[in-house]
Amino acid sequence: MKHIVFLTGAGMSAESGISTFRDSNGLWEQYDVREVASIEGWYRNPDLILKFYNDRRAQLREVEPNEGHKIIAALEKDLQVTVVTQNVDDLHERAGSSRVIHLHGELTKVCNENKTLIYDIGTGVINPGDKAEDGSRLRPFIVWFGETVPLIERAAEIVSTADIVVIIGTSMQVYPAAGLIHYAKGGIPVYLIDPNPVDSSSYLQVEIIREKAGKGMTILREKLYKNGRLF
Ligand code: OAD
Repeated sequence: MKHIVFLTGAGMSAESGISTFRDSNGLWEQYDVREVASIEGWYRNPDLILKFYNDRRAQLREVEPNEGHKIIAALEKDLQVTVVTQNVDDLHERAGSSRVIHLHGELTKVCNENKTLIYDIGTGVINPGDKAEDGSRLRPFIVWFGETVPLIERAAEIVSTADIVVIIGTSMQVYPAAGLIHYAKGGIPVYLIDPNPVDSSSYLQVEIIREKAGKGMTILREKLYKNGRLF
């Protein structure tokens, strides 16, 4: 079976009603990223961070996977599919994808200060003062700016075994995630689905599908199943 790897970002979940970060009206226009998504912010104002992620978690109850998530999951019938996502929502899993790597953590999990104890919280809340079993403060299981990305090497290895790579809904501005594409084997098909221009000038071969994730994935599925068979 051919291995298809999806590199997804906030635009993947936009049609489900979750805001992206850097578009106009995106989350980083409403919040100061240094305050709510950095390790320094956590030390400075943990209550603000807890509230920010409690709100994001609560929003998960209101949203559903969109057509794009569903098409990706359905491809597992005919392809080995791995999703490497920068998203912290659980919409890929809820759509049925079975192999999802969350580079920037997961909203539905919480952890202790040094991330050695991880707990499922679903869409629940962390209250100020909540502690992990080791007595340290409970925090969202999120990779903030200023922290390492523990899954990046695994992700790079996965991309290096891909026969097809598809990038969806990421501005490719945040490293190391944005550098993953460079681990792909030379000559494989690379597709980029995004309704807005994204700088892809450094990729060798990329076919751009300038559409939102749902329509873009419908188009990609047609390309993959051209003449009724997968190539
Ligand atoms: P961005 O907000 O930077 O980029 C979102 C991308 O999605 C842009 O290229 C948009 O054009 C595109 N887009 C918008 N609507 C779309 C749709 N309906 N379908 C497809 N694409 C659409 O989000 P990311 O690149 O994911 O990290 O941001 C990367 C990281 O920065 C996030 O994981 C987060 C953030 O700070 C942390 O918080 C640690």
